[in-house]
Amino acid sequence: MTTTANNPPASGEAGAPLGVRGGVWNHHHVLDLDDFALPEIEMVLNLADRMREVLDRRIARVPALRGYTIVNLFYEPSTRTRASFELAGKVLGADVISVNSTTSSVVKGESLIDTVRTLRAMRADAIVMRHSLSGAPYLAAEHTDASIINAGDGAHAHPTQALLDLYTIRSRIGDLRGKRVVMVGDIAHSRVARSDMWGLTALGAEVVVCGPPTLLPRGLKASDRPAHAESALPPVTIETDIDRAIEGADVVMALRLQSERQQGGLLPSLREYSRLYQVTAERLSRAKPNHLLMHPGPKNEGVEIAASVAAGRHSIIEEQVTNGVAVRMALLYLLSGGSGLSGDPTGEAR
Ligand code: CP
Repeated sequence: MTTTANNPPASGEAGAPLGVRGGVWNHHHVLDLDDFALPEIEMVLNLADRMREVLDRRIARVPALRGYTIVNLFYEPSTRTRASFELAGKVLGADVISVNSTTSSVVKGESLIDTVRTLRAMRADAIVMRHSLSGAPYLAAEHTDASIINAGDGAHAHPTQALLDLYTIRSRIGDLRGKRVVMVGDIAHSRVARSDMWGLTALGAEVVVCGPPTLLPRGLKASDRPAHAESALPPVTIETDIDRAIEGADVVMALRLQSERQQGGLLPSLREYSRLYQVTAERLSRAKPNHLLMHPGPKNEGVEIAASVAAGRHSIIEEQVTNGVAVRMALLYLLSGGSGLSGDPTGEAR
């Protein structure tokens, strides 16, 4: 059966999620944040608060997703995303398995669609998918009624990273409206930057993206876009001078230089890039005194971020990682239809 990207099958239809509850949640898949309304983002963040409480318990285990099966299907390397989905599922009592594309039948030529259908035939309820090709999770979502969660597709989107970034900022500074959030680095190849732009602007932040002109995506300026692509990206401020960008920032997020996605010639040299764009203590002195420093990881210390600031007092990089588990717990619970515990995911018994 075919579903559209984010519309669940009608209730009662074969394959319909277990009673997606009323309220504002209306997602069967999580493909990007461009189709998340503000109340939906807030619903995830509020539920993540409760999931953090579960995580902080001495024994972090609740049966909210008992009987729910999650498959991690990663065609690209990952440490944080894969491990945190695995933990998130296990804390909620789900069955979680990982399929490694390099040791699966993918190497024998099995297509993405066949792989996803095969996993669904084994009753996978959710498939967490990372792929090097932008759009791959959308294709998968068209061919299965399992929930597809985009764990990063090419340079396109990484919505669960963006949600954990939003959650982490909100837990530190509260209301994001009017806050200056600066993303520095390889914006062109960053799926995190794209999803963060949608999420941050939805929450009312002032978003500044900064990098060398060769690492800023074409079409970022609304005036450069053809009419049919007017809403391709949300409105952000573009800055090529890092010192001007960081001036008065509430949050600075350094982004990894994605050497694996770069065709030659975009940068004169790593040394030159670091000299001009590395986030350093000296540069951060222009930000607000109580600014936050973030990085989605994995970091190239000494390239896009100085080791001293990555481990410094403004850094909340490890907090991002911990919060990632809580946010993914919230998403899995919502995608399951909140079918466990009569609407209380944090309780001990059904
Ligand atoms: N931030 C992030 O996606 O990290 P991993 O590649 O380790 O999952």
